[in-house]
Amino acid sequence: MSKADNSIIPTADPQQAEAVRQKKTTSSVAKVTHHHSNESEGVSGGSFSDGSMSVFTGGAFGGRMLSSDCDVFEHNAWDHVEPDADHYQYAEQQIRLHQEHPVPEEDREFSELFSWTDDRYSADKVASSEIQNAEYEETKKSSESSDSEFYDVSPNTKFCIMEVGCGAGNAVFPLLADIRDPRLFVYACDYSKTAVDVVKANDAYDENRCKAFVWDLSSTELPEGVEPASVDIMLMVFVFSALHPDQWDQAVENAYRLLKPGGILLFRDYGRNDLTQLRFKKSRLLDNNFYIRGDGTRVYFFTNEQLQTIFCKKFVVEQNAIDRRLLVNRKRELKMYRVWLQAKFRKPFA
Ligand SMILES: C[S@@+](CC[C@H](N)C(=O)[O-])C[C@H]1O[C@@H](n2cnc3c(N)ncnc32)[C@H](O)[C@@H]1O
Repeated sequence: MSKADNSIIPTADPQQAEAVRQKKTTSSVAKVTHHHSNESEGVSGGSFSDGSMSVFTGGAFGGRMLSSDCDVFEHNAWDHVEPDADHYQYAEQQIRLHQEHPVPEEDREFSELFSWTDDRYSADKVASSEIQNAEYEETKKSSESSDSEFYDVSPNTKFCIMEVGCGAGNAVFPLLADIRDPRLFVYACDYSKTAVDVVKANDAYDENRCKAFVWDLSSTELPEGVEPASVDIMLMVFVFSALHPDQWDQAVENAYRLLKPGGILLFRDYGRNDLTQLRFKKSRLLDNNFYIRGDGTRVYFFTNEQLQTIFCKKFVVEQNAIDRRLLVNRKRELKMYRVWLQAKFRKPFA
């Protein structure tokens, strides 16, 4: 199986598969242990000693770099731009405004009851389109040969990708189109029945290759029909931020239970001081960095350190990075900073 076949699933050569199985009990365990030891070192100066948490400065998330001799208003967007002093001042001022004017007490009970419901679905379709490509590329990359030591590559074994909070299927359908390997099976689930119906109505929806269903990531039950420890890659793209902080641990537990040992969780979500956070007006703050939108959906803005704390209880943190973009309104000479977190968590073998 080669990349020329357009397959990203690791090789199915039986001899190599056996070698892989051997390796799983040796080098992979060693690798996991190695990461564990780094985890215990915690966060120091914004990065781990192995670089697993890094602010990307290279081409990982995009390549238009703003150098000192560039005119910032020459293009609409720049990658990896460290915000300027004006931005930090604006951020401070906005966060103070939010804290001084949280959701009023009389609306609080009502807001707490809200979560995603079907009639709010249209808003997330818009939000999702901006991230589709990045996550899709990352999924492909993560399942390529460098990770093959973690996967069972025998020819009859299904290779399962599961997207939780799949929305309209922005990641699912490109993956199905690109990976023709018959071993691929994709689960697409969402809290919203409307989202699931949208996925099922897509012409590319093929029940032999994928299954869409309603499931709440914060549920205490695993989804019906998906075996524990059966998923190779799980995607969570802008869905974790929709959870209430009280639901985080259950969501992590669910991901852990569904993934195979050695399987990975690819994560992308809002970072602290992202434009979306700073643009909130008064009376939207439910709790620190946790807001309710006008349509009733909720959103949390994370830091790398928080992700580390939340996920290291169950996973090995292999990547925990910040993806920064500077968007420019050239006409009005406005600078807007986007901050997304991109992470890769691996379920250890033991
Ligand atoms: C911002 S959208 C992202 C959609 C998709 N991941 C994408 O990138 O196109 C968030 C999605 O998460 C879903 N969602 C929110 N809370 C959820 C939960 N507790 N369990 C499962 N899905 C949830 C919403 O219904 C929505 O479709």
